[in-house]
Amino acid sequence: MRDCYNRKIDYMRISVTNRCNFRCTYCMPETKKVEETLSLDEIYEVALAASECGITKYKITGGEPLIRDGIVDFIKKLHILDNIKDITMTTNGFYLEKLAKDLKDAGLSSVNISLDTLERDKFKKIAGVDALNDVMAGMKEAINAGISTKINTVIQKGVNDDELFDIIELAKNDRLNIRFIEMMPIGHGKESTGVSNVEILERIKERYNVAEDNKRHGNGPAKYIKLEGFTGSIGFISAMHGKFCNSCNRIRFTSTGKLKPCLCYESNIDVKDILKNTEIGSEKKHNILKEKIRECIAGKPEAHAFEDLSKISEMKDMVEIGG
Ligand code: GTP
Ligand code: 5AD
Ligand code: SF4
Repeated sequence: MRDCYNRKIDYMRISVTNRCNFRCTYCMPETKKVEETLSLDEIYEVALAASECGITKYKITGGEPLIRDGIVDFIKKLHILDNIKDITMTTNGFYLEKLAKDLKDAGLSSVNISLDTLERDKFKKIAGVDALNDVMAGMKEAINAGISTKINTVIQKGVNDDELFDIIELAKNDRLNIRFIEMMPIGHGKESTGVSNVEILERIKERYNVAEDNKRHGNGPAKYIKLEGFTGSIGFISAMHGKFCNSCNRIRFTSTGKLKPCLCYESNIDVKDILKNTEIGSEKKHNILKEKIRECIAGKPEAHAFEDLSKISEMKDMVEIGG
């Protein structure tokens, strides 16, 4: 389906939980006690309706999606939807060592792993847990399982900007792409601590021979370059200094039952009651869900408004939106 700005919307980000086993400073620094609102069967009903509205690519997010029991079977079910093209996941990587093979067999084609530092103590400070080794093991296991693997890094001034080249070097010999995400003013994210991708690219160019990379490495907004002698590519998600909304392809479904037309606006399309109060599998429910998904696509705004925070109705934490 196309939206009002003639963008083809064929990608849905599904947040399967707003819980996480990490406590990243800019995402979810303190523990929130939350019960799961929707079951994976209920979430699947939305995914099924979405597939009939033209969605062919699903990104599974959280919180941390791998803490949800039944996640592998959920992916198996998505994988046999008609017209399915791609199922990918964004994860903190902690459970990948255990689950990568099963996820690959279930039909997961790609994972994005969040990793901001290669220093154990700093990892503990940023993510709130001593889990660098687990994440590195998870990353290796994902690559070995044949899942296309990318690293998501948010560079912050005075926190991890000294590690830029160490992180980049991970892509030298491994089939691994590294992406730098500009800090967005969402939840606990403060733009002031973020380093712009313009600056990061300049630093990279001072050290490496850089070439364009026009190969697709996912379904998202990242732009990629190749470094001479490197196996993996380097990508940039420049939400603040390189707005990419004119090529947006996505809607979001949150773990509490909201359909969101854009990362930065609050949603008024809540399907939780429909999911809870109408019989599972009923045609009536299916048709209402399809109607709501079409409403969400039709209501997509032209662009985010991070540069004018007064325009943003509500800034939820990233864990509640699913990134
Ligand atoms: P692939 O390229 O398919 O791997 O997807 P992706 O890069 O969109 O996925 P990922 O979940 O790794 O997202 C990386 C970062 O991009 C996260 O910080 C997201 O919040 C951000 N992001 C994803 N989609 C959007 C979007 O529509 N708008 C903005 N501003 N940021 C987004
Ligand atoms: N700005 C930019 N990226 C963020 N992430 C979480 N919060 C923010 C923020 N405020 C990133 C995580 C993860 C991805 C899904 O989103 O680092 O890699
Ligand atoms: Fe968890 Fe990811 Fe948020 Fe960190 S950024 S707290 S790993 S959801």
